[in-house]
Amino acid sequence: MNRNFFILVLGLGILVLGLAFLIFTKTMQTPSCQPGELPEKFIHQHEVSDFDKEVFEKRREVILENLDADIIVMSAGAGVDFRYFTGFDERRGIAVFIPGDEKPFRLFVTPWEVYTVMWTGEVYGTEGALEKFGADAAHPIGDFDEMLPELLHGKERIFVHGNDNRIRNEVDRILQATGQQAGIHDIQPVLEEHRVIKDEWEIAQLRQAVDVTVKAHQYVLRTVEPGQAEYEVQAEIEYIFRRNGLTPGFSSIVGSGPNSCLLHHTRNDRTMKDGDLLLMDIGAASLGGYSADVTRTIPVNGTFSPEQREIYELVLKASDAAMEKMQPGYHMLDCNHKAMEIMVEGLHQMGLIPDTTSWWQKRFYIQHRVNHYIGLETHDAGDYGFDTDKRDEHILTPEIRGREILPGMVMTLEPGLYFMENLLDGIHEMFGHLATEEELNAFVEEVRPVYEKYEGIGVRIEDDILITENGYENLSAGAPRTIREIEAAMKR
Ligand code: GLY
Ligand code: MN
Ligand code: MN
Repeated sequence: MNRNFFILVLGLGILVLGLAFLIFTKTMQTPSCQPGELPEKFIHQHEVSDFDKEVFEKRREVILENLDADIIVMSAGAGVDFRYFTGFDERRGIAVFIPGDEKPFRLFVTPWEVYTVMWTGEVYGTEGALEKFGADAAHPIGDFDEMLPELLHGKERIFVHGNDNRIRNEVDRILQATGQQAGIHDIQPVLEEHRVIKDEWEIAQLRQAVDVTVKAHQYVLRTVEPGQAEYEVQAEIEYIFRRNGLTPGFSSIVGSGPNSCLLHHTRNDRTMKDGDLLLMDIGAASLGGYSADVTRTIPVNGTFSPEQREIYELVLKASDAAMEKMQPGYHMLDCNHKAMEIMVEGLHQMGLIPDTTSWWQKRFYIQHRVNHYIGLETHDAGDYGFDTDKRDEHILTPEIRGREILPGMVMTLEPGLYFMENLLDGIHEMFGHLATEEELNAFVEEVRPVYEKYEGIGVRIEDDILITENGYENLSAGAPRTIREIEAAMKR
C-alpha cells in the first residue's frame, strides 16, 4: 500500500514538474513574432509583373505613330528612357527599331557565356531578348558595330537619344565615312513627354511601390521609440521594402530632431530623443522600376508637442487645400500657390512673417515647390510648362501656373516648413542682396522670440497623387496623415 502511495506521489510530482517546465519554456518565448514572421497587413497582396510584352509593343507603336522615323538607334547609355522604350533593364543593351522592316525590333545584348554569368550573374541573353522582350531579332552586343552601317543604309530620318553619346558618335562617323545624306534627330524629348502620362500598367507599378512604402510607414509607427538611431528606423523601413521583394527607389531620408529640417539628410546616424519629431522621406521602387516618394513626420514618443502640433496642422491644412487643385482643369502650379497662400497666412498669424508683401520674408520660410512627377525616376522626366531652373521666381508668383493637369499624370504633393536652428543668423547671407541691413535686423529682432519656440521642428507631408478623369486619387492615403491618426497608430 505504502509503496503504491509512494509511486502515485512520485508520478504526480513528475507530472507537476513537467507541466511547470512546459509553462516556463512557453513563457520564455516571444509570443507573436518568430524570425521571418511578418503580419499579413505588411505584405503587398497583389501580383504585379516586372514586364509586359504587349504593353511595351503598344507603347512603341504609339510613340512611332507621330515620329516619322526611318530608324531609331538607342542604347542603355540613354538612361531610363531605354528601359521605357524596351523594358530591358540590363546595364548593357542596344535597340534598333526600323518601322516597316521585316524585323522591325532588334536587340543587341550581352550573350549568355559561362564566365560572364559565373562572374556577373544571370543575363537574359539573345534567347531572353526574343522570348521575354519580344525582339524580332537578337544579336550579341559585340556584333553591333559591324552591323550598324548596313542597318543605317538608305535611312533618311535617324533618331538617337540626347544622352547616348557613343551611339550618336558612331552614327555620325558612319554617315561621314559613307557620305550618306541623313538627318539626325533626338528622341529624348519625345520619350520624356510620353512618360508624363502613365498607362494602366505603369499605374499598377506605382500602386505597388506606393502601397509597400505606405506599409513601411505603418510599420514604423508600431516600432519607433526614443533611444533608437535613425539608421535603425531606416533598417525597419527597408526591411519592409525587401520583404515585399522591392528595393529603395532613392536613399531613404530619416531625419530626427534638428535633422528633420535638412531637406536631403541621408546620414541617418543620430540617436533619437524623447520629444523629437522624425521626418521619413522614403520610396520603394516597383519590380518594373517605378519609384514611390512618400514623406511622413511623426513624434518619436507618440505625442506631438503643442509647437509641433501647430506647425503640423498648418502644413496639413496646406496639403489638404492644395490637393483639391490637383485635378483636370487646374494647372501644374495651382496646388503650389494654394499651399503657399495657406502657409504664408498661417506664419503671418503666428507673427513669423510681419509683412506678407515682402518676397524675401516669405521666401525665408518657403524652401521648395510642392510637386513633381514620379515614375521611372523619383523626379520624373517631363515638361512642367514653366522654367524649372527658375524655381525661385515661380514659387511665390501665382500668375505663373505651368501646364494643364491631365488624367494619367502622377505627382507628389509635398508642402513643408522647416525651422532650422540658427537660420535667422544666416539671413544676411540669404537676402543681403534684396534688403538693407536695417530691414533684415528689424525682421530678426521682431520674429526671433517666436522663431525660437519652433527651432528644430521640420515637417513635410508628401503624398503621391494620381490624376483621374474627374479628380484625383491619393495613392498614399493609407499612411496615417492627421495628428489623430498618427497618435492613435502609435498607442501601444
Ligand atoms: N525625396 C525627394 C523629394 O521628395 O523630392
Ligand atoms: Mn520625397
Ligand atoms: Mn518628392
